[in-house]
Amino acid sequence: MSETASRIESAVTEIAEEMQARADRGKVADYIPELALVDPAGFGIAVIDNQGGVFAAGDCDTPFSVQSITKVFTLTLALGMVGDRLWRRVGREPSGSAFNSIVQLEHEHGIPRNPFINAGAIAVTDLILSGHEPREALGEILRFVQFLADDQTIKIDKAVAASEQRTGFRNRALANYMKSFGVIENPVDYTLGVYFHHCAIAMSCRQLAMAGRFLAHSGRHPTTGRSVIHMERARRINALMLTCGHYDGSGDFAYRVGLPGKSGVGGGILAIAPGKATIAVWSPGLDAAGNSHLGRIALELLTKRLGWSIFGG
Ligand code: DON
Repeated sequence: MSETASRIESAVTEIAEEMQARADRGKVADYIPELALVDPAGFGIAVIDNQGGVFAAGDCDTPFSVQSITKVFTLTLALGMVGDRLWRRVGREPSGSAFNSIVQLEHEHGIPRNPFINAGAIAVTDLILSGHEPREALGEILRFVQFLADDQTIKIDKAVAASEQRTGFRNRALANYMKSFGVIENPVDYTLGVYFHHCAIAMSCRQLAMAGRFLAHSGRHPTTGRSVIHMERARRINALMLTCGHYDGSGDFAYRVGLPGKSGVGGGILAIAPGKATIAVWSPGLDAAGNSHLGRIALELLTKRLGWSIFGG
C-alpha cells in the first residue's frame, strides 16, 4: 500500500471510531415520519481515491435515505438533457435560508434561487419529467444513479417515498406556487411523485462515494472512461455544491471542511476533493440547518488530516 493510501486508511478508521463513541449526535429528521424511525447511533464513512482505492469504516454498507443528495444527480441528468436552458428556470445563488423556505419565491417570481433547495430541485425534476411518463422519468434517474455507482442493486425505499408523499405539504405548496408562475410544466402531483421517489433512493456510503466519482474526475466515469458530463459542467456542479450544497449552512461547511459537498436529511453527505477523492459519510442526527452533525465533523477532521481542502493548508 502506498504511503498516501495508508494515511487515508488510518484516518478513516480512527475518525469512524471517534465518531461512533461521541455522545452529541444531533437530531434525526422527523418531518418525514419514516425517517424518524432511524437509529441515531449509526455512523459510516467511505473514501474512494483517484486510483480507485476504497477505504471504508463503521456502517459503510448500511443503506440510508439519500434525500437531497440525489439533487446532484438529477441536476447532472437535467443539464445533459436540456443544457444551459435549465438556468432559465433555476438560479445559481446561495439562498441564505432553509431548504424548504417559501419566502424568496414570491420576491423572485417563482424562480428558485438554486437547484439544491427543495423548490429548485422540484423545478429540475419537472424538466426531467417533461415529455415522459412519471414512471419512465423515475426509471431514468434510478438507472443513471446505478450506472454512476456501478451497482444495479441500488433501490428506491418505497416506504420512505410514501411517507413523504403523505406529509409533504410544504413541497406541495412550493410546487403549486411555482406552477402559478409557469415554472412547473407538468401536473404538480406527477412532478412531486417523481421528486419524492428519487429523494427516497437508498444507498450506503460505499455506493454513494462510487456514484460521485465523475465529479472528482472532470466529468468522467472512471470505470468505463465514458464522459458523464462535460468537464466544464462538472466543475460548475462542484461550485454549486460548495456555495449551495448545505443551504444556510453552506458558508460554515466551506469554512470548516473546504470541499464541495451535498447533504441530505437522511444524514448523508457526499463531498468531492477534485482530482483526489470522493467521500461519503452518514450519521442520521442533524444540526439546526438540517445537515448531518457528525458527518460534518468527520469531514472536517478528514480534510484537515489529509490536507484536502480546496483552499489549501
Ligand atoms: O423535500 C424534502 O424535504 C426532502 N425529500 C429532501 C430534503 C433534504 O434532504 C434537505 N437536506 N438536508
